[in-house]
Amino acid sequence: MTPTDRVRVGVLASGGGTNLQALIDATADPSHPAELVVVGADRHKAHALQRARDASIGTFVVLKRDHPDRASFDRAIVEQLQAHGVQWVCCAGFMKVAGPPLLEAFPQRILNIHPTLLPAFPGLRPHEQVIEAGVRVSGCTVHICDEGTDTGPIVAQAVVPVLPDDDVQQLQARVLRMEHRLYPMVLRWAAEGRLQVRDRTATVHLRNGESTTLFGTDV
Ligand code: GAR
Repeated sequence: MTPTDRVRVGVLASGGGTNLQALIDATADPSHPAELVVVGADRHKAHALQRARDASIGTFVVLKRDHPDRASFDRAIVEQLQAHGVQWVCCAGFMKVAGPPLLEAFPQRILNIHPTLLPAFPGLRPHEQVIEAGVRVSGCTVHICDEGTDTGPIVAQAVVPVLPDDDVQQLQARVLRMEHRLYPMVLRWAAEGRLQVRDRTATVHLRNGESTTLFGTDV
């Protein structure tokens, strides 16, 4: 694969960026079909920005307070992504729901990862919700973004046990380890053109041995 063939990916993050790091590591090989070309954040302090700089990836910050409304904030993000020729967007711990300007600029081409088995436990405090509900399994979901909060077509999920004495930190760490496996896998499918969405259903053209479900029995 020559550099010009690689699919150009922008990542949006708000926090520590461990999912970004997993994507950086996975795409570091120039033969990978995706190339991370820019990382955007909605906070100057997002550690994800430092991870991007360490990997020589361009960065930008768009602050909500600099914009009169949500649409203008979204348009500023779109401008930055388009200036870098981005074709696919990965939300990786980005704590804003993609608004219409983003969804229209990248139709069916924005991925998000959420640390529960959607459609269960969307939104904020996911691990607290899981522990409060007393469910015995949790996991993570990569989905295509739509206008809702964690509601878009599901692409792939990874399952982990919820252990009887788990606190939020323990569960979060177990799920994160699976997030770092799941997200790079889905990004590869997207970049290879093997992920399609029709009638709000995502389909992956799987090859031998691949699956859209991972079971984290060893995490
Ligand atoms: C991850 O657990 C991700 O699934 C979650 O934020 C964390 C970010 O961690 N995202 C959401 O809850 C979005 N609804 P990271 O910054 O270390 O990748």
